[in-house]
Amino acid sequence: MERLQKRIAESGITSRRKAEELITSGKVKVNGKVVTELGTKVSNKDKIEVNNELIEKEQKEYYILNKPRGVVTTTSDEHGRKTVVDLIPTKARIYPVGRLDYDTTGLILLTNDGEFANILMHPNDQVEKVYMAKLNGIIKGEQMKKLKEGVELEDGVIVAATRVKLKKVNEKANTCMVQIGIHEGKNHQVKKMFESVGFLVEKLKREKVAFFTLKDLQSGEYRKLTPKEVAKVYALEQK
Ligand code: URA
Repeated sequence: MERLQKRIAESGITSRRKAEELITSGKVKVNGKVVTELGTKVSNKDKIEVNNELIEKEQKEYYILNKPRGVVTTTSDEHGRKTVVDLIPTKARIYPVGRLDYDTTGLILLTNDGEFANILMHPNDQVEKVYMAKLNGIIKGEQMKKLKEGVELEDGVIVAATRVKLKKVNEKANTCMVQIGIHEGKNHQVKKMFESVGFLVEKLKREKVAFFTLKDLQSGEYRKLTPKEVAKVYALEQK
């Protein structure tokens, strides 16, 4: 059973707030009878009509995308830039789970399932996000240790890396590649963490979120999640 306004919003025809207005103004019928009570609960079997038209429940959809550089992680952009949602042809009202910066590439999940998104966005020990960063210098052991112990961001919040591994060093160019894992998803978190130990991130790619990896998805490519993968995310919540 779920609330009538939620069910109407989930059909994709309008927002939950507008659905409430439709209900209180007498535009909604449940099993042929006008219902104006906002708290009304309905089941999957109930027939809901809005303005005398039957509504269907929007199917839940789940995608994994390898986000290219130069794409925004929102559903629409006021400057008309391409969004991650533009890369996936669907009529469902999907949105990104969390965010990646305009110049960050890599793994992003998209869905129209709010509960699924919440599980992954809530800081959770089982939801590690792993990034590969190219730095404008060569990081030292003590700086990596500091990142693991915790660094303070400018808003006073302390965040610690779950892992920090030096993967490659280019002495000539004076750059290196570092793998870093985090639990939170604060704005520009990885860039700020490296900044706190004196480095600029020249390139950033997300390689892993919980148990998801990009495998053979090339830049700009996406695929649907399997029902098993979706169930595995729901199982994270119960642990
Ligand atoms: N941290 C960042 O700084 N940028 C991202 O896009 C993701 C994590």
